[in-house]
Amino acid sequence: MTIELRPVTAENWRALIDLKLRDGQSRFVASNLYSIAESQFGYEEEGHWNFYPFGAYVNGEPIGFVMYSFNFGHSRFQAFIMRLMVDEKYQGKGHGREIMKQVLDSFRTDEHIKNVGISYEPENEVARKLYASLGFEEPGEIIDGETLAVLNLR
Ligand SMILES: CC(C)(COP(=O)(O)OP(=O)(O)OC[C@H]1O[C@@H](n2cnc3c(N)ncnc32)[C@H](O)[C@@H]1OP(=O)(O)O)[C@@H](O)C(=O)NCCC(=O)NCCS
Repeated sequence: MTIELRPVTAENWRALIDLKLRDGQSRFVASNLYSIAESQFGYEEEGHWNFYPFGAYVNGEPIGFVMYSFNFGHSRFQAFIMRLMVDEKYQGKGHGREIMKQVLDSFRTDEHIKNVGISYEPENEVARKLYASLGFEEPGEIIDGETLAVLNLR
C-alpha cells in the first residue's frame, strides 16, 4: 500500500474537507475545515508554531488528513502532531499507521526535532494504542482536556 502525503493547496482543500468520520468519532478530532483555517495562522506558545496540513492519498484518491506543527525553539517538543483522521470508508486498513510512520520518518531526518508531542481524548483507545505502538509514552499530563504523549527521537 502506498500512501502519499500532499500539502493542502487551493486545488485540493475542498476534497479534503469532504472526508467523513464514522458516527461518534467527531468528538475525537476537529473538522478538516477548522484545521485548514487554523493552519493559516499558527499558534503562540513558547514562540511561534507553524502548522503544516496534508491530505493523504492512495492511488490518487484522498483518504485522510494529517496536520503537524513545528517550533524548533520549544523546550519540550519541537514537533507536535495536531490532527490525524482517516475517512470512514478507509479505516482499519493500516492507513492511519502508515501516515504516522511517514510523518515520524520525516521527523527523524530533521535534527531540530528531539521530541514529538501528540494528544488525544482520554477515551480514544484506538489512538492511544496506535501511538503507544509507535513509541509514544504518556508523561501523565492533560493538555486542554486531552492526554499528552511524547516520543523521544534523539
Ligand atoms: C485513529 C485513526 C486515524 C486510525 O486510522 P486507521 O486507518 O483506521 O488505523 P489503522 O488501520 O492503521 O489501524 C491502526 C491500529 O488501530 C486499530 N484499529 C483501527 N480501527 C479500530 C477500531 N475501530 N477498533 C479497534 N481497533 C482499531 C488497528 O487494529 C490497528 O492496530 P494494529 O496495527 O495493532 O492491528 C482513525 O480510526 C480515525 O480517523 N479515527 C477518528 C479520528 C481520530 O480519533 N483521530 C485521532 C485523534 S488523536
